[in-house]
Amino acid sequence: MTISRSVLVTGGAGFIGSAVVRRLIRATPHRVLVYDKLTYAGNLASLAPVASDPRYLFARRDICDARAVSEALAAFRPDWILHLAAESHVDRSIDGPAAFVHTNVVGTYTMLQCALEYWRKLPKAEAQAFRFHHISTDEVFGSLGAEGSFCENSAYQPNSPYSASKAASDHFARAWFHTYGLPTITTNCSNNYGPYHFPEKLIPLTILNALEMKPLPVYGRGENVRDWLYVEDHAEALLTAVERGRVGETYNIGGSSERKNLAVVEAICDLVDQLRPCKNGKARRELITFVADRPGHDLRYAIDASKIRRELGWSPRENFASGLMKTVQWYLDNEPWWRDVREGHYRGERLGTLS
Ligand SMILES: NC(=O)c1ccc[n+]([C@@H]2O[C@H](COP(=O)([O-])OP(=O)(O)OC[C@H]3O[C@@H](n4cnc5c(N)ncnc54)[C@H](O)[C@@H]3O)[C@@H](O)[C@H]2O)c1
Repeated sequence: MTISRSVLVTGGAGFIGSAVVRRLIRATPHRVLVYDKLTYAGNLASLAPVASDPRYLFARRDICDARAVSEALAAFRPDWILHLAAESHVDRSIDGPAAFVHTNVVGTYTMLQCALEYWRKLPKAEAQAFRFHHISTDEVFGSLGAEGSFCENSAYQPNSPYSASKAASDHFARAWFHTYGLPTITTNCSNNYGPYHFPEKLIPLTILNALEMKPLPVYGRGENVRDWLYVEDHAEALLTAVERGRVGETYNIGGSSERKNLAVVEAICDLVDQLRPCKNGKARRELITFVADRPGHDLRYAIDASKIRRELGWSPRENFASGLMKTVQWYLDNEPWWRDVREGHYRGERLGTLS
């Protein structure tokens, strides 16, 4: 029988965090405290499906506020911290890097330091069960050429302000394990897609623009390759890693679904055509518009996820075709969610061009 844990999830109102929280409430006996500042990227509507559950709690707080973090730890007494809160969008990091240094570096340092103080005072058995799971990205490894994939020992070579700030946060998590013995686990995951994804990212932006017959912007010639993972598979991997992973270890997570950006956009066009045919018979592919490339755009990411598969028995349930179909269908079925996001905060403008 699974032991009931108390799980504090930072960034639990974001895209991946909310998938983790929905899974925790629906598929485990655990209690959950979502600790989230609700920036532009945080959305309580993504937690609405589980918010009435008595095992769910929410605190609108900042990870950079040490006092608030310590108070939440003392009151909730978590067994596990899943640390997802971050500034996460590369284009925004080009326009305004300071917020990325503050949230991702100072915020992660603050979480680690408060967790350390809390962990040191726990009774022995609770201290042994405690985990600080730091959630990170494959972008810390930089860019690949045509061949190869990132493994856990790949050199850190971040190229964007976003990936540099995440790389720094990974190093802090590592140091708090090696220096102070805090039981940390770090995971580095490839690009996620799926329901509740903020519509400034490639896949939801393309789905919504295709639905509305708007131009579909593709950076450069669409040659950049990403290794896509369905968000529910990532959530399952995170819960597997925090439950069964070895402390002090890092695990790469990926979907073995490498696609060129142009192929992703074309696949979405075809799915939207199939599910919502255009009245005048026009094909959505005609809406594809090539735009000036993002500065410092990494060419290719690919993840070697064999360690988590071998050691912890995790592998993704969805392939890219099945996950993309579910995602497009979700956006068709959940118009109120994305309309609210778009009309409230964001209108699908392009970011990060430095012009
Ligand atoms: N999206 C991806 O494809 C991907 C892939 C690999 C790893 N990651 C990592 O996973 C994590 C979650 O990514 P996401 O795509 O869900 O991000 P997101 O931008 O959708 O969500 C971030 C959440 O963090 C919250 N937040 C931001 N600053 C905060 C602060 N100072 N205090 C408290 N809460 C704060 C926001 O309100 C939001 O709810 C990030 O650490 C990211 O680096 C993302």
